[in-house]
Amino acid sequence: MDRLGEKNVAIVSGASRGIGRAIALKLAKSGYDIAMIAAHDNERAQMTLKEVKAYADQSSFFECNVANPVQVAKTLEEIKARYTDFDVLVNNAGITRDKLLLSLSEEDIASVIDVNLLGTIYMTKACLKTFLRKKSGSIVNISSIVGLTGNVGQANYAASKAGIIGFTKSVAKEYGKKNIRCNAVAPGFIETDMTDLMSDEARKNIFEKIALARLGQADEVANLVNFLVSDQASYITGQTISIDGGL
Ligand code: NAI
Repeated sequence: MDRLGEKNVAIVSGASRGIGRAIALKLAKSGYDIAMIAAHDNERAQMTLKEVKAYADQSSFFECNVANPVQVAKTLEEIKARYTDFDVLVNNAGITRDKLLLSLSEEDIASVIDVNLLGTIYMTKACLKTFLRKKSGSIVNISSIVGLTGNVGQANYAASKAGIIGFTKSVAKEYGKKNIRCNAVAPGFIETDMTDLMSDEARKNIFEKIALARLGQADEVANLVNFLVSDQASYITGQTISIDGGL
């Protein structure tokens, strides 16, 4: 079966808004058709899809909870039915449930690990057969600086993001011989809905710790992801690249 259109295809999870939206737009401008994935955010996803389609008209949106392996498998079948093949996977979907450890409920802990870490693992596993058949593929997992440093009030989130780093290194080692690269990106504080929740005081405290004295922009993370998936990064795998303004 011929693939739809001439372009390479990138799957981007959490693509409805924030960093995922910026990644979807950047990769669309770089020449990929985008298979966007998001959950509980259909209206924003449709708005983003419209923007993405201005650069990559065969792009599409799939509603899928990445924490649910049955939905992930079904969505991958739908993506393959539409495009036959794909070339890039960006695991960006993520959530926070910030509280001190003693106040975290089992639900707060499990939901963050389920979406951030297990979602990344399920999506990657579901994409691997296609990458192995093509003998090429590039995966970028969005971790966080908090996965490297830890943070007060984010024990569940830090554990999920540190888990992504170990997972990334393992996938890079298991599948490097098959020409599949896997890297992680560890953003610091980036201006999105997620960081809008921060108080003015928390913002001021953070600015004092950032060498560049400002929050990052989603586009700046998208530029790094665009580089990592491209052939310009053909000898980079198993790495975690921080993008944090010198935090
Ligand atoms: P956001 O809250 O603006 O967007 C999250 C995206 O993930 C949305 O598209 C949402 O639909 C999707 N999503 C949430 N749960 C999902 C699920 N179960 N299944 C499928 N999709 C789901 O978040 P933001 O700020 O754009 O963050 C994106 C990624 O970057 C996350 O993994 C986050 O942890 C990470 N990150 C963000 C930082 C920041 O400062 N904003 C810093 C470091 C990492």
